[in-house]
Amino acid sequence: MPKVAPSILAADFAKLGEEVRRVSEAGADYIHIDVMDGFFVPNITIGPPVVRSLREYSKLPFIAHLMISHPERHIAAFAESGSDIIEIHIEAEQEDLRGTLRTIRDSGCRVGLAVNPPTPVEQAFEYLDQVDLVLIMSVNPGFGGQSFMPEVLPKIAVVKEELTRRGLEVPVEIDGGINGDTACAASKAGADILAAGTYVFKSENAREAIRTLRNSGAESKH
Ligand code: DX5
Ligand code: ZN
Repeated sequence: MPKVAPSILAADFAKLGEEVRRVSEAGADYIHIDVMDGFFVPNITIGPPVVRSLREYSKLPFIAHLMISHPERHIAAFAESGSDIIEIHIEAEQEDLRGTLRTIRDSGCRVGLAVNPPTPVEQAFEYLDQVDLVLIMSVNPGFGGQSFMPEVLPKIAVVKEELTRRGLEVPVEIDGGINGDTACAASKAGADILAAGTYVFKSENAREAIRTLRNSGAESKH
């Protein structure tokens, strides 16, 4: 069954701590935190001080999804703020991608590598030995509430096959447009972690929404 990572981009920012506590108590597995710089993506969201402030509201692992240029300049700050997993984009301008991945590892965090919809997942292959998680974007990053792009689904099997071939046990997360319906397709395609903003935070009942996402794994086998 897939794990569920509510994306706080869809939370009420005026009471973010309470929102993080709410979904943590409702059965989430991770907290997915979207960091945007207004340059790599058009939007600007949150930075390390906010992550630090949220730390006391949940014991769940924090995934910092960095949609920023030059992530290498900010790894230390995100690690120190209490992130557990730091995801960077393969498309992001940076000194040296391998070096950034190493910096994340050296910071004590787990290492995630994200791939945008237009980017062939094969481009990530040469870095797989350095990562603990692969993130397949199912929307073009920048905003919540966008429509799921089913054409990215085959990437999951492609990267999983390569991981298996190398004997690596690395989970694959999918992010963008995940709801009760698209979660079934994502789970069937092999996603191990479902990041979902709007569907979890804007639903009447977060516990129910999280359960639906998690059960999408079982349903997808039918
Ligand atoms: C998109 C972000 C996603 C987003 C998901 O740029 O990386 O994590 O918050 O939001 P929904 O689930 O509403 O598509
Ligand atoms: Zn995200």
